[in-house]
Amino acid sequence: MKSRFLTVTVIAAVATTIAFAVEETNPIKDAMKFAHKAPQGEKKLSDKIVDGTAPEADVKKTLDLYKAMLDTKPPKGDQAAYKVKVEKLIAATEEVVEKKPDATAHYKDAVNCKACHSEHKSAPPGK
Ligand code: HEC
Repeated sequence: MKSRFLTVTVIAAVATTIAFAVEETNPIKDAMKFAHKAPQGEKKLSDKIVDGTAPEADVKKTLDLYKAMLDTKPPKGDQAAYKVKVEKLIAATEEVVEKKPDATAHYKDAVNCKACHSEHKSAPPGK
């Protein structure tokens, strides 16, 4: 009986570890950190994309990260509305990669921080 108890304990521990690992990977945060955040005094990658100075490899990585956001569930708001926003962002970023006319204008429109955050990002604790 003792070994059975041990097995159950081990399985529970493994399950907890996996749950934590899943919690840790957040494709939304990955995309935000890579494309929408920069150390103080430096331009965010999203700003560089808008003004056309982002290195192509970075734009492509951004595109991959946005694609990974598509199947995630945002902390709040309507899932379908969130998907529409992310799809628009992906389409605009694809245009930037393909160097289509007006691509950066479309990107600027799609990467509307406030519009997405107000609906889908939870308020910071205490606010
Ligand atoms: C299509 C939706 C969308 C757009 C556009 C968007 N964000 Fe976000 N962002 C989110 C969501 C959802 C979260 C919350 C993620 C979470 O807490 O799991 C978030 C979180 C963040 C965070 C916190 C990341 C962390 O590590 O906790 C930063 C910083 C951020 N966004 C910056 C920006 C900036 C700057 C822009 C505009 C240039 C922007 N975002 C545009 C959806 C978006």
